[in-house]
Amino acid sequence: MFPSGSSLAFPASLSSILGHAHRDHSEKEVTPVRRKLECCAKFGHSTPMDVTLVTLDRPAGQTSPKKPTRLQQLLRINRVSPVLSDLFMASLPPVQQVWLQKRRGDHTKSIELNTQAPIPALEPGHVLVRVRAVALNPLGVKTMSTIPSFARKFPTMLENDLCGEILNPNDSEFQIGDEVFGMSTFEDCLKKGRGALGQYILVKTENLAHKPKNITADEAAGITLAGLTAYQGLVDQCKITAGQRLFINGGNSTVGRFAIQIAKNLGAYVVTSCSGENALKVKSFGADEIIDYKRVDLPSYLVKNYTSNPFDAIYDVVGNILNFFPRSAPVLNPKGLFLTISIDLPKGLGSKMRFLFLLFNVAVRPTWLGGVNRKWKFVTTKSNKTQLNTLAKLASEEKLRVDVDSTYGFDQAGLFAAFDRMKTNKACGKIVVHVP
Ligand SMILES: NC(=O)c1ccc[n+]([C@@H]2O[C@H](COP(=O)([O-])OP(=O)(O)OC[C@H]3O[C@@H](n4cnc5c(N)ncnc54)[C@H](OP(=O)(O)O)[C@@H]3O)[C@@H](O)[C@H]2O)c1
Repeated sequence: MFPSGSSLAFPASLSSILGHAHRDHSEKEVTPVRRKLECCAKFGHSTPMDVTLVTLDRPAGQTSPKKPTRLQQLLRINRVSPVLSDLFMASLPPVQQVWLQKRRGDHTKSIELNTQAPIPALEPGHVLVRVRAVALNPLGVKTMSTIPSFARKFPTMLENDLCGEILNPNDSEFQIGDEVFGMSTFEDCLKKGRGALGQYILVKTENLAHKPKNITADEAAGITLAGLTAYQGLVDQCKITAGQRLFINGGNSTVGRFAIQIAKNLGAYVVTSCSGENALKVKSFGADEIIDYKRVDLPSYLVKNYTSNPFDAIYDVVGNILNFFPRSAPVLNPKGLFLTISIDLPKGLGSKMRFLFLLFNVAVRPTWLGGVNRKWKFVTTKSNKTQLNTLAKLASEEKLRVDVDSTYGFDQAGLFAAFDRMKTNKACGKIVVHVP
């Protein structure tokens, strides 16, 4: 049996695995495992981690004669043969690397790499995931410097969206070694300090789906938050149906690109805004008409060109509500919804109060008090397993495409560059960090 914190290197070679197995187990025990390992090796799997892809269920009624190691207890692995279980446990290091936010502030002042973080113990309803790629969202950098300490738990593991492999399925529908994508929710970040930017993390089973085989881990990492946001906005809120007309403000953003593709799958006609240099790219996602928002005053342009053929819904990713919503009535059908997903509060308490007053004035004031004669709504995204599976299915059928803007390393230089890129608000696709 390998002691916890065993010196077995990760990843270990096949011969070293067998060497260790022979040292601690009888030939009779090792032979079937060797066959499996050799079979795995043929298919390019030679590490204990990879070996766990081939799950050897213990014969019914057989219990392990040995006292479980600390790590075994921690991870409650009991569905693989005792030998493989030992090998698997030994392949996990005793500690892991995670990026933490320690205090409120810009990333250059508030985040730190912890190289001695414990591997989390399992909890009901959660699985243990070996993270491979984490995709950043604007939410991360925005909340880093805005949410005060009393409203969130510190230290907090950074970011939400991820792609990885199941290490411990914890009696869920997943198997060891399944490739999955999903998120550690923002709520989990706030309340429990749980995020995605670590090597081994606990994720609620309901927030994960199988990774479509036809897309890369980088692409899959970028689906969840932006994809659910677009899906919930168009399907649950705007209730878009075939033949309807939709305006998407911000078609080149990740949410905007997903929204275009989902709307086209629903059979809608899509007009969208983006900067001229990205028009061709945005068109490739299926948009019917593109408006270069840098060359026109968007609300006036829409009124001039679309009043005779208004939209059934406006999906606003950009969030310039004070300027846009009050002028949207001529281009939005009376029963149409103006849905926004982004509100950037200005800095400073005074400015914030003034902004909120103006926002109330344009967005919430009833029509009989002179408010805008159209329905406005702001929504935040909820986790939803069924919708996540729908997004996975669309991606597997090549009806949902994710582009990767750029990829970065897990070290400080890599992560700082990734956050700097996010802050430009110019990314064309997902910004992805590779986890070692
Ligand atoms: N409410 C929620 O639950 C929720 C969930 C997810 C995201 N969000 C919010 O949704 C927004 C978009 O997120 P994302 O991940 O899609 O961002 P993103 O991919 O980083 O968006 C970047 C793109 O936004 C476009 N853009 C910037 N300013 C624009 C403008 N004035 N008009 C039109 N396009 C503009 C740029 O395209 P061009 O090159 O064409 O300018 C840029 O390439 C963020 O504010 C985010 O916080 C909210």
